[in-house]
Amino acid sequence: MKRIGVLTSGGDAPGMNAAVRAVVRKAIYHEMEVFGVYQGYLGLMNGQIQQLDRGSVGDIIHHGGTVLRSARCLEFKTLEGQKKGIKQLEKYGIEGLVVIGGDGSYRGAKALTEHGFPCVGVPGTIDNDIPGTEFTIGFDTALNTVIDAIDKIRDTASSHERTFVVEVMGRHAGDLALWSGLAGGAETILIPEASYDINRIVAKLKRGQERGKKHSIIVVAEGVTDGRELGKVIEKMTNFDTRVSVLGHMQRGGAPSAADRVLASRLGAYAVELLMEHKGGRAVGIERNQIVDYDIIEALAKPHKIDQRMYELSQELSI
Ligand code: F6P
Repeated sequence: MKRIGVLTSGGDAPGMNAAVRAVVRKAIYHEMEVFGVYQGYLGLMNGQIQQLDRGSVGDIIHHGGTVLRSARCLEFKTLEGQKKGIKQLEKYGIEGLVVIGGDGSYRGAKALTEHGFPCVGVPGTIDNDIPGTEFTIGFDTALNTVIDAIDKIRDTASSHERTFVVEVMGRHAGDLALWSGLAGGAETILIPEASYDINRIVAKLKRGQERGKKHSIIVVAEGVTDGRELGKVIEKMTNFDTRVSVLGHMQRGGAPSAADRVLASRLGAYAVELLMEHKGGRAVGIERNQIVDYDIIEALAKPHKIDQRMYELSQELSI
């Protein structure tokens, strides 16, 4: 395989640039030509494709976002859209494609694979919800962004003896909420993977106040409920001064952490190795610190699982 392409798709994530850089540098090191596809599958269909050289990815490893830009593209879910994309790939003589993104991006890569075009998926999303990999690129950076926010919120919560609800991203997954809640010492963590009883939350808040607790932090994943609504209910049921912070898209930005830069470099480079061996239809990931690959179609069939023991630990440590 002498000519490959790379694109970023779906919600951007810190570390995507490090992955793009690794794909480009690895390919060029092995005397392949590499083409950047701009704006994800939308750009693929419209032929926003440009050859890259080693200089194209200089000075980006430490920047969040993606120099290839990204887009959410409903048209690529259609057969027509996919055929448009393949036509563009053939027009540029591109023989294989590295897709960096989340599960929506993997569905596009799966479609291309099913049309016989070799693709490799690299898990790039802050949600950490891609089956087959313990961590996705961007999760560690987003986690540290959330922790920084929780620590700051805790300062003002204690100054005003307030209860704070902090809503974090994650789409339908609770990983960001669970990990940030545990690391931030939250009194309560609400995740989509576990049901909750508002009466028990309120009773716990009241018990805390009775034993002299001056403030509480409740971390809620956006996939559970609207943080603002939850805050209103809690304030009504407890009569505690309550505020809500919805962290939103700041969780998607920022300089990628060292962990994300290394993970992205390892995964991006491995994706190129697989294409060099003509192994398309694969997804790469990390399991017990080993870089692995698996069938992308099987990956999408597997449900994402939360670390149950970690969830139980968070319950124990926030008694
Ligand atoms: O998938 C990443 C993510 O940030 C989710 O956590 C969030 O729900 C979604 O993207 C937001 O999508 P958009 O950036 O299109 O508003």
